[in-house]
Amino acid sequence: MRRPILAGNWKMNMTIAEAIDFVRSIRLGLNEIKGVDRVLCPPFTALAAVKDLISATGIALGAQNMYWEEKGAFTGEIAPGMLVELCQYVILGHSERRGYFGETDAGINRKLHAALAHGLKPIVCVGETEAQHDAGQTERVITEQVRGCLAGLTAEQAGGLVVAYEPVWAIGTGKAATAGGAGAVIGVTIRGAIADLYGEATAQAVRVQYGGSVTPANIGEFMSHPDIDGALVGGASLKADFVDLVRIAAKTKGV
Ligand code: PGA
Repeated sequence: MRRPILAGNWKMNMTIAEAIDFVRSIRLGLNEIKGVDRVLCPPFTALAAVKDLISATGIALGAQNMYWEEKGAFTGEIAPGMLVELCQYVILGHSERRGYFGETDAGINRKLHAALAHGLKPIVCVGETEAQHDAGQTERVITEQVRGCLAGLTAEQAGGLVVAYEPVWAIGTGKAATAGGAGAVIGVTIRGAIADLYGEATAQAVRVQYGGSVTPANIGEFMSHPDIDGALVGGASLKADFVDLVRIAAKTKGV
């Protein structure tokens, strides 16, 4: 049984003051929901403040990106060793990083190895663009991304991963995938690619989230799918809605 995991990706939103107000307003409700991992991913600048606010709760903290080097002359970058002082998780390879900042599977793979070496728990994002989706290339693109991002991991490392399947056309558009469509990509393509690399047991151990326009209104449908273990939530994680969303997710999985 894979433990469900819901993560809020705040993206480039919230000052420290706003983050403090918001986390104060949701932490009690979020902390009450048991049986699922709950992860908040604020911008780097708010990590320390949020860490203090949730230290006595079961809520976990994640960063949205990192660099693969340990330290040095990399102006503007954040190293894995800096993050482990603050948080447990790190989102890697989000489609906005790929699309706006030129991240590649090879670079994401280096980040993944560095994160694991430091004991961070990566949430590795994959997803096809609308053009690739319309051209029927989803299976090929996702398989390539999984193979490229996971290259060189041991089966044990791979089995402990969280993968987020986020079709680019569904992110921030209000046009979510269907649970059946996303579940098939996750169950067949993503778990299939992992099974080819590491065997079926590893493929069944990996937790895979769906992401893209997830709301309290559609989370139940996604969580009803046996291959979907949670969600990576953008817009709806910036509002009190996020607590409802996590509550519905836990209830749907029966945990
Ligand atoms: P969204 O973003 O929920 O606002 O669509 C999801 C994500 O990009 O992680």
